[in-house]
Parts: sequence; C-alpha cells; structure tokens
Amino acid sequence: MSAVVIDGKAIAAQIRSDIAKQVKELRATGLVPGLAVVMVGDDPASSIYVNMKKRACDELGISSRQHLLPASTSQAELLDLIESLNADPDVHGILVQLPLPDHIDEQEVIAAISPAKDVDGFHPVNLGSLVAGRHGFVPCTPAGIIRLIKSTGVEIQGKECVVVGRSVIVGKPTALLLLQENGTVTVCHSKTKDLADKCRRADILVVAVGRPGFIKSDMVKPGAVVIDVGINRVDGRLIGDVEFETVKEIAGYITPVPGGVGPMTIAMLMHNTVQAALEQQRQS
Ligand code: GUN
Repeated sequence: MSAVVIDGKAIAAQIRSDIAKQVKELRATGLVPGLAVVMVGDDPASSIYVNMKKRACDELGISSRQHLLPASTSQAELLDLIESLNADPDVHGILVQLPLPDHIDEQEVIAAISPAKDVDGFHPVNLGSLVAGRHGFVPCTPAGIIRLIKSTGVEIQGKECVVVGRSVIVGKPTALLLLQENGTVTVCHSKTKDLADKCRRADILVVAVGRPGFIKSDMVKPGAVVIDVGINRVDGRLIGDVEFETVKEIAGYITPVPGGVGPMTIAMLMHNTVQAALEQQRQS
C-alpha cells in the first residue's frame, strides 16, 4: 500500500490563516508585528527565500522590511545595522539570511542579534534554552517538522526516531525536539557506520543531508513516518533527500518535495514573529 502524502502546503496554509486572524486582532489593539530581514550579497536561492518571507508577511498583515546589502558589506557595518534593529521598537523579529559571505563571521553576527528578536532561533541563548527544555525561540524548520509529524496522528512518545544530518539549523534542534516529545532519538551523519541499518529501525525518519535521493526504499521500515527536509535542484527540478517514488511504497507517511517541509518553515517564522511581538509588548 502506498504511503499517505503529508500535505505541508495545506497544513502551512491553515497555520497562516490562523496567524492572519491573530494579527488582525493585534493590529486592532495597535500592535503591528514587525520583521526585519537582512541579506548580504545576491545568492539566487537566498533571494527567493527572502522574497517568500516578504510575501508571507504581506499576506498575514505583518509589517516587514528588507535590508539588502551588497556582498562587499563589512562585518562592522552589518553589526551596526543589527544594533540599530535591536534598538528599534517597531522591529520585533530580526532574521539574517544565511549563508553570509566568507569574510563575515556568521556566529558572531547571530550572537549580536537580541535573543528576544531572534525569530530564527539560532542565537546561542535560544539554542541553549532548547537544550535545557525551556521556553525560547525554536528554529523554524525543526518546529515545522514536529507539526508535520503530529499531523499524522502518530505519537512520537516511545518511538524510534532517526535524524540523518546534524546541522545546527535542522538536524540538532530536530533531535532535541523529538527528545522533548519523549522519542528515542538517534542522530546519524556522514561518519555513521551501518547507516541503512539505523534508518531501517526508525518509526520516524527525518532526513536533512542535502543529497538528492539519498534515502532508498531498502533503508525504510514499513509504515514509517518519513520527513524529507532536502531541497536539491537537479536538472531544473527540486528533489528531496528521499527517493520519493520508491520510498512511498514502503513508508506509512511521507512528505513531498516541494510542498512538504518548505512551506512549514515560513509559517513557523511568522508564528515566531508574532510571539516576539507579544512578548516584547508584555515586557514593555
Ligand atoms: N538559510 C537556509 N535556511 C535558513 C533559515 O531557516 N534561516 C536563515 N536565516 N537562513 C537560512
């Protein structure tokens, strides 16, 4: 039997519609959530993402501004901009689009963002809160992944969860969130031995390695929930890290690419921005 395809686009649309209603109510009270997006250079993929974030803000009634800086921007100039955004009461969320050019120290830039405005959840304080199981901003893609898994009705508690990929943006925070949900979590990476065996144990398999079609059907347990975070451009087409056509015959649930995890990332960014606005209003 073929897997149920998890419709990330529809789930994200529902979340966006709920947020739009919430923003409308907030605007009526005089609170307009605001997001500042900073991009350095003109990486084509980053430009697409930044524009998608702007469109989502426009649709939901969130005020957005873009700071599109030339690739020659110095680290000091970027840090000055972040400092001014940190101090701006109309800006509740700050997102610096990654990757940054090589001459800029990414970690230092992220650390300069006020943790209260770090809607990406990449600041060490927010990542630390995640490790400690405390409330902070959760990175958007991992938060979206958990929502997609929950949408299936499959319980995470007690399940074998395997995350393939250990990036700070996706793999590590996803592993921590699954652990918080009482999953039994294994994190695999490029040095893992017997990767196929480990993947085959998974009731819930999350793959974020950036290698097209990396996960084949013989690496998947029958009935598993398979979440494909990969976005790979191959011959002008977007394909995931999971070989969709074959794995869908084995898995119980599977996300497509595009239309799976991608739309959830932006929905969660909008969610974090509204939460940032509410929290900053509460503190003021
Ligand atoms: N580049 C790729 N993914 C992301 C993301 O989630 N946030 C930011 N800021 N940059 C990215």
